[in-house]
Amino acid sequence: MNSIAPAPHRFALLGHPISHSWSPFIHGLFAKQTGHTINYRLIDVLPFKFRSTALQFFAEGGRGLNVTVPHKQAAAELVNSLTPRAQRARAVNTIRMEDNNELLGDNTDGAGLLMDLTRNLNVNLAGATILILGAGGAARGIMQPLIEAKPSAIVIANRTGARAVELAAEFADLGPITGCSFEELFSPPFNLVINATSASLQDEVPAIPDGMIDSNTFCYDMAYGKGETAFTQWALEQGAAEAVKGWGMLVEQAAESYKLWYGVRPDTKPVLEALTAP
Ligand code: ATR
Repeated sequence: MNSIAPAPHRFALLGHPISHSWSPFIHGLFAKQTGHTINYRLIDVLPFKFRSTALQFFAEGGRGLNVTVPHKQAAAELVNSLTPRAQRARAVNTIRMEDNNELLGDNTDGAGLLMDLTRNLNVNLAGATILILGAGGAARGIMQPLIEAKPSAIVIANRTGARAVELAAEFADLGPITGCSFEELFSPPFNLVINATSASLQDEVPAIPDGMIDSNTFCYDMAYGKGETAFTQWALEQGAAEAVKGWGMLVEQAAESYKLWYGVRPDTKPVLEALTAP
């Protein structure tokens, strides 16, 4: 008897640029684990074509999308409804087609970072002092879950100070959070410093004053790559306790997306090991 293989479920990542993306590899390993048959594509799309490309993808039977830079805010405007965390972030990195043909937008970035920090890296956030560098979309996406982890203080510092002040004001109802420019930073060393700027992509380090990092400071770069990033290299030179790149966040946010699509959260450990193997 001939058996016909089921058609793969179609997923894609929309972004620009995206040729460097690990998402097809990560979701491919998740699908193997969970026994789903998927086809996960990369679609490089410019902002003016984002909306039509996303809608066409779903019209042709697509099951779910990931969305990355620079389309996360446009994705929040495209969908029919938002999860509370996506609403708060005003940015969407995961879209699911619902049974009623409506699109649900979620943001899994913050949950991915929290998973990596607390479960993979054993960083204790309750009572910690946290410095977030950057006030763009990457910083916005992680604010709510970080505040919910009950740190004693969060300071957002940005090259353009006014953006940090604005972002802090937007989340100040949730906890003790302030914003300033790099030059205005004045504090004892922080317990945790998160680089949410895009400086590492240009091989640059945010120009923060000396004294923010000591041998108890855990440093995290949301950027990732082979070898050290400019930020992790600099943090280690400053004597930080540890300096970690964002591979874990990448895999954990993908697992949260997968859970939104299939209702199961894959095991991230073997995938993270495959990505970071020397
Ligand atoms: P993303 O969505 O990746 O956060 P974005 O909204 O363009 O992208 O924000 C980029 C962030 O990185 C901003 O906080 C930016 O600082 P400004 O608001 O002052 O532009 C920060 N950034 C980019 N390059 C930087 C650099 N070389 N040094 C310090 N901060 C930098």
